[in-house]
Amino acid sequence: MDGNGRWAKQRFMPRVAGHRQGVESLRRCVRACSERGVKVLTVFAFSSENWNRPNEEVSGLMDLLAGALAREVKPLHDSGVRICFIGDRSRMSDKVRSGIDQAELSTRSNTRIILNVCFNYGGRWDIAQAASKLVAQGQAVTEESLAGAMALAHVPDPDLVIRTGGEYRISNFLLWQSAYSELHFTDALWPDFDETSLDQAIADFAGRERRFGKTSEQLSSPAQQHPPALNTQAAA
Ligand code: FPP
Repeated sequence: MDGNGRWAKQRFMPRVAGHRQGVESLRRCVRACSERGVKVLTVFAFSSENWNRPNEEVSGLMDLLAGALAREVKPLHDSGVRICFIGDRSRMSDKVRSGIDQAELSTRSNTRIILNVCFNYGGRWDIAQAASKLVAQGQAVTEESLAGAMALAHVPDPDLVIRTGGEYRISNFLLWQSAYSELHFTDALWPDFDETSLDQAIADFAGRERRFGKTSEQLSSPAQQHPPALNTQAAA
């Protein structure tokens, strides 16, 4: 959700006012995704590196989260949204941590859409914590076991990753899970990202050919879609 700071600067407002507007944009985006049948929306709200921002901005973001938890959870719950928080909770205040626990608990049975809020999250952190968990359990580290130990194991890998704010970077977001995601970059600043921007991103996605390592010909010819398994070939 990049571009809140610039949105505020353009209006001679403090950066935290941009983040406040970002919450409005997030509310609109959740509704629009839900209306379009999107089943999972994962947003990057605070990265592990965001602690390095000025104290005023960090505490502003924490206050915003606490306020959003107090105000937004009930209407989200009423709209069938299941809320999950993804990230390292150890540095959060008791108030924020209990708000997060409460939000997850009260919405856990909702099925209309899952909203994953990545907060104090980093893609590298997730890979490292998943590997540590497996090692502590004495399990082998394989692609499958690692994927199952990740903080986002409850949802499929994203089909589409959208970056707002005109930057062409992944910035430590969903490093593992975005291996085969389609990427959409837009100049829209996050507070300006509206239904039209979302529809443009979805239309862009719909025009992509997803090959997952195969050739175009394999995708268009059903006979070639399921080649014999490797061991069958070896036996032949
Ligand atoms: C990046 O824009 C945005 C953030 C670091 C914070 C995003 C947070 C929200 C949208 C609201 C908080 C979310 C919840 C769930 C309460 P930037 O500040 O880097 O913008 P810039 O690149 O224009 O400076």
